[in-house]
Formats: sequence, structure tokens, C-alpha cells
Amino acid sequence: MYKDGYKSVFENYSGAQDNLISLLQHFQKQSGYISQECVQEVARFLKISENHIYGVASFYSQFTFQKPGKNHIKVCLGTACHVQDGQLLANEIRDLLGIQSGQVTADGFFDYQEVACLGCCAQAPVVEINGQIYARMTTTKLMKKLSEYE
Ligand code: FES
Repeated sequence: MYKDGYKSVFENYSGAQDNLISLLQHFQKQSGYISQECVQEVARFLKISENHIYGVASFYSQFTFQKPGKNHIKVCLGTACHVQDGQLLANEIRDLLGIQSGQVTADGFFDYQEVACLGCCAQAPVVEINGQIYARMTTTKLMKKLSEYE
């Protein structure tokens, strides 16, 4: 018997091993990450090893094994943002949250990522919070914006 939330999903798949990516995409979209429980259930369903799933999922950047924070912060460190002091913004966030890029705060309130380009270089330096782009960001503006989330 599969754990709650898995059986109804598995009913839409044949159980063939080439369903692996589609299943992982489904659970990544549903939960925002691939949990250990998910790996165990998918492994049982497809009759493959958990190690195989970790190996495949690790290859694709679309999959993550870490539960995301409630709020998502991205700082751009692409060339245009870097030369406009994007690194200062990154340092400020790391100090404030006490985490590095790719990590989640202990209370799960924020996750943080440093990215190569957010696609709006003319507005550098750029920060994205929960999908919203903040242009020509300064450390002062950034701290003010983040204080709204407390
Ligand atoms: S380099 Fe930062 S948005 Fe492109």
C-alpha cells in the first residue's frame, strides 16, 4: 500500500521505469521539492532503487531535495548586476539570514539563491522576492523590503 497522496498519482502511470522523470516532475511541482518519502514511494512503484532515483534527479537542476522556505529570495550575480554591486546585496542577505546560497533559514521562513541572470540586466542590480523583481536595489532598500516579511 502506498502512502497517502501517492496512490492517486500512481494510478495515472503504468509503472514503467521511463515514467521516472514525469513522476518526479509531478511531485516537484506539487511539493516544491522531492522528499525522502517521495523517493521511497516512487522507488517502490517503479521497482527501482532509491539510489537510482537520487542519481537521475541530481542530474537535472529542475529537481531539488530540500524543502523550500515559505518566501523565496534570489540575488542576481550576473555580470551586469555584479558590476553594480550585486555582491553587496548578496553579502547583506547572507549576514541577515545567516545562510548561504541554496539554503533555507532554520525557521523555514526564507530560502535564498544566488543566480546568474534574472533577465532584466538594464535594471541592475536586481533582487527577486517571491517572483517579484526589484530593480536598482540598494542594501537600504533591500533591508526595508525584507522587514515587511517579518
Ligand atoms: S545580470 Fe542581473 S539581471 Fe542580468
